Amino acid sequence: MSGPPDLPALGVLGGGQLGRMFAHAAQAMGYRSIVLDPDAQSPAGLVSHGHLQAPYLDPRALAELGAACTAVTTEFENVPAAALETLADHCPVAPGAAAVRICQDRAAEKAHFQRSGVPCAPYAVVDSEAAARAIDPALLPGLLKTAQLGYDGKGQASVATREEGLAAWQRFGGVRCVLEKRLPLRRELSVIVARGFDGRAVHLPVQQNLHRDGILAVTQVPAPDVDDATAARAVRCALQLADGMAYAGVLCVEFFLLQDGSLVANEMAPRPHNSGHYSIDACDLSQFDLQVRCMAGLPLVAPRQHSAAVMLNLLGDLWPADAAGQRRAPDWRPVLALPGTHLHLYGKAEARAGRKMGHLTITAATPVQAREVALQAGACLGFAPF
Ligand SMILES: Nc1ncnc2c1ncn2[C@@H]1O[C@H](COP(=O)(O)OP(=O)(O)O)[C@@H](O)[C@H]1O
Ligand SMILES: [Mg+2]
Repeated sequence: MSGPPDLPALGVLGGGQLGRMFAHAAQAMGYRSIVLDPDAQSPAGLVSHGHLQAPYLDPRALAELGAACTAVTTEFENVPAAALETLADHCPVAPGAAAVRICQDRAAEKAHFQRSGVPCAPYAVVDSEAAARAIDPALLPGLLKTAQLGYDGKGQASVATREEGLAAWQRFGGVRCVLEKRLPLRRELSVIVARGFDGRAVHLPVQQNLHRDGILAVTQVPAPDVDDATAARAVRCALQLADGMAYAGVLCVEFFLLQDGSLVANEMAPRPHNSGHYSIDACDLSQFDLQVRCMAGLPLVAPRQHSAAVMLNLLGDLWPADAAGQRRAPDWRPVLALPGTHLHLYGKAEARAGRKMGHLTITAATPVQAREVALQAGACLGFAPF
């Protein structure tokens, strides 16, 4: 591994874009970053001092990572919790395996919402053919979601009848699922909390998110359609959920704001989140700075948002394809000619439809100005953000 060995190192399980932005924040504070990811071309591995190219559960790689690092974190939702458990024998780990296990399983996650007194969608666990045949009609129409390994709308099926529920459960291979009632959403929100090993917690402002085809498309902060009381409620719930897991590290909680104004928790991510990327450019402490501070046991102070922000996800769909189907990067110059645009690209060589290639954050003095520039940026790239 390169870099002066006397400099402290922070480790990350997973080498995706979240790990890459974490590495940038860690390096800015004088740490070396070391990534464990099986992919030779992982976005975080490409910018780190060390890259252990091995499976996540490889005991030798975990021992090497733990021995080299002051602390280790995870950036990828589906890194096996057992890897964190093994690492905890070597160095501090944030978040810990127990919390990650809860966040990796929709049934455990919902049980944690209930235990913590945080409302969530009515649901049932579907873990057998009998359970699939006996779906409570009160949960229909609903969404059948695999309990584990789902992301960006994958592992989900819309279900209107018991028969459809059974068929969808069989299509998912009979794995444990959660059926939840489809709720009338007014808006989607998220809150990012950072909680230290000492239990002190801070949070970023409430984010308003727009999803397209199950993938986050736009985040706006401040949230234009959320009143102060609702925002405060979301923050309280997120802090409660973190406290209830004795969480250490950065946690994102997604919420649904329903048509009737009530708020329900949807899911948690035990790591920084796509909806928090705006914080790099719009806040005096980003979600990745907070992750570094949590891991290293450094003071957590409340982040201050200094600019209104709109974040646009840049999916591979925006990379124009030539006659041979080869995609190339868009011309960024017209976008970068707009005021307050911050382009982040993740170093992924191949653009594919639905693949997160980067994001664009627009900062401005007011939310209206940020929105106007976002519309212009979208027009340059050939899409309508809102
Ligand atoms: N119970 C529900 N009612 C209405 N819409 C939902 C419900 N559950 C999920 N969705 C929609 O699907 C999106 C993805 O679902 P989510 O549970 O967050 O899974 P993922 O892990 O794929 O992000 C949500 O952001 C929301 O737009
Ligand atoms: Mg989600």
